[in-house]
Amino acid sequence: MPTFIGAIDQGTTSTRFVIFDEQGSIVAHHQMELEQRSPRPGWMEHDPYDILDSVRVCMLHAVRKLEGLGHSAQDITCIGLTNQRETIITWDKLTGQPLYPAILWSDARTAETVQQLTEKAAGNTHILEPVCGLPLTTYFTAVKLRWLLDNVPVIAQAQEQDRLCFGTMDTWLIYNLTGGAENGIMVTDVTNASRTMLMNIHTLEWSAEAISFFGFEQVQLPKLVSSSQIYGQVHDGPLAGIAIAGCLGDQQAALVGQKCFAAGDAKNTYGTGCFMLFNTGNTPVVSQNGLLSTVAYQFGNEGKPAYALEGSVAVAGSSINWLRDNLRVIQNTQQLNDLASQVDDSAGTYFVTAFAGLFAPYWNDSARGTICGLTQFTRLEHICRATLESVCFQSKAILDAMNKDSGQPLRSLKVDGGMSNSDLCMEIQANLLGINVERPLMRESTALGAAISAGLAVGVWKSLDDLASVNNRGKTVFEPTLSCEKRHSMYQGWMKAVESSFGWSN
Ligand code: G3P
Repeated sequence: MPTFIGAIDQGTTSTRFVIFDEQGSIVAHHQMELEQRSPRPGWMEHDPYDILDSVRVCMLHAVRKLEGLGHSAQDITCIGLTNQRETIITWDKLTGQPLYPAILWSDARTAETVQQLTEKAAGNTHILEPVCGLPLTTYFTAVKLRWLLDNVPVIAQAQEQDRLCFGTMDTWLIYNLTGGAENGIMVTDVTNASRTMLMNIHTLEWSAEAISFFGFEQVQLPKLVSSSQIYGQVHDGPLAGIAIAGCLGDQQAALVGQKCFAAGDAKNTYGTGCFMLFNTGNTPVVSQNGLLSTVAYQFGNEGKPAYALEGSVAVAGSSINWLRDNLRVIQNTQQLNDLASQVDDSAGTYFVTAFAGLFAPYWNDSARGTICGLTQFTRLEHICRATLESVCFQSKAILDAMNKDSGQPLRSLKVDGGMSNSDLCMEIQANLLGINVERPLMRESTALGAAISAGLAVGVWKSLDDLASVNNRGKTVFEPTLSCEKRHSMYQGWMKAVESSFGWSN
């Protein structure tokens, strides 16, 4: 009988359900775009039910495709879940109904909350970093929950009446898939929890210090679990009864899917945002250069956690959507690529895609999107190329910070995610980093990481050694060809552009 592993990949822009075989090859999958709403400048929301429905629809269609190949849903041994991180959903404990839209990780409405918390911390935005590895910014879940309790009466009321449930996307999905208000399980895995600011990343327990700092003494937190164990069974639908056995934040899942299991391994995923993670082994490293310290994975409750240094870029693929949906100057990513490849360079144009501030290593909430260096000569082709370059420059800033923090310059970088499909973008990336960029043939690394975590929990693979042949079908290596001088002068221009993006928000 074949052994298949299902993976839910719930990202910011889309949801997928991917069914893998034991070699990590895709047998069937289904994908749906997901609507994000921006009701005010800097605000980003999803409807929690849209997300849940998209997961159910993707599961159903992928299973139908599997059945069309002559297999059965029962050939799926287990399911892994991976998800956009930091995004918060609040719901009523009694009814299971959401109390407010999901506030996205990239939402910047909490700028004032951050200011208030910073004042409370006597100006020290790094106050909780020794505990949770993260600075005070608009990005993380606890800051969003503080804003909700302070600004949305229905949530403060639910809290007073002990009816408030809150969670990151993993908690919302596992709760609903295992039965919702009836008997749904309230858990979060340690990688997702490490993005809330509320977990002590050294002990993998909720931190009393962080809880007291945010004033969450009365808030009920989900149970902490490892990234690989059986949490519960799917309650209904075509996969009813199948164990949900793996859970990871999407960037940690991509690290696992790229098999970056050794200290010093690194990957960069170009999704809605772009996230570079560098495995630091079993010890968290506190960055001196603007990076985050995060839990990479923990396989089993007794397993030793692995940690990563992370550099997060808020806007990557979403800048292409912005050109398509807001400016309406392109119709799709392919067209952007075609236009960008018609010019040899961006003719001095820089596009700092700071739509809601800049994340690593700048951490500047006041930055806003800026296009500079325009002349009468500039054409759409140059702006398209500058859009690709923007994420590559931000990745360079992160790699430089990582090299400083780790003391060992990275020799090659594994890549995946939507923009990594563009050869041009990966050539630019290799040129700006000055190191090889390696792209696997099968690039659903995020979903594969969730499948690996689930498969390890139920014995599809007994150990990491068993994964040697998984997703080993080949790769493309992009080598740098740009001179050091040219790289240096382009990067000088980028840094000037970044400075001019600061200070635009109110
Ligand atoms: O931290 C946010 C991240 O998890 C979102 O990932 O793939 O939706 O850009 P993605």
